Amino acid sequence: MIRVQDEVVPRAHRRQLLRLGFLGLAGLAVTEMAAVFAPFFRVTRIAGLGAQVTVPEPKSAILARFAASNDEPILYSQWRFFLIHAPGGIAAAYRKCTHLGCAVPFNKSEDQFHCVCHQSIYEKRTALLTSGPAPHGLDLFRIREEGDHLVVDTNPLNLLVREDNKWHDEHLEVQG
Ligand code: FES
Repeated sequence: MIRVQDEVVPRAHRRQLLRLGFLGLAGLAVTEMAAVFAPFFRVTRIAGLGAQVTVPEPKSAILARFAASNDEPILYSQWRFFLIHAPGGIAAAYRKCTHLGCAVPFNKSEDQFHCVCHQSIYEKRTALLTSGPAPHGLDLFRIREEGDHLVVDTNPLNLLVREDNKWHDEHLEVQG
């Protein structure tokens, strides 16, 4: 028995239509996959932690703030570091506690960094550990001068880690 469909659409045409349908669906699938994976291949500007950060105030203003505040560390919370008036210059201390990673605040009344999670204490000008369960001082971000401005590399992969909990002059990258 010959079906009506076979009469209206000959076999060769049906095959063509099926092929076109298949190609259309395959094209759609490829387009959807591209839309899903495209963001992973796009290079976007790093804006938060990990960025090269230019400190808004010039170096001279930072030094003036240290002079006026008995060297109180200056917090840049959006970039998770303190500028500290280290012996002989300026350093950038990553505020992540080296114990279990809490954000370490500077305690003005104690004049030292005091992690409230488990009571690790870090010294004001070096950010080295003075007591508590943390294994060593706060890590330092790399820092450099560009004109009168300071640029801090907040990439955690480039940290200066002080496992011996000692101050190292070679870690001082900005004099002042
Ligand atoms: S996380 Fe700071 S002392 Fe434990």
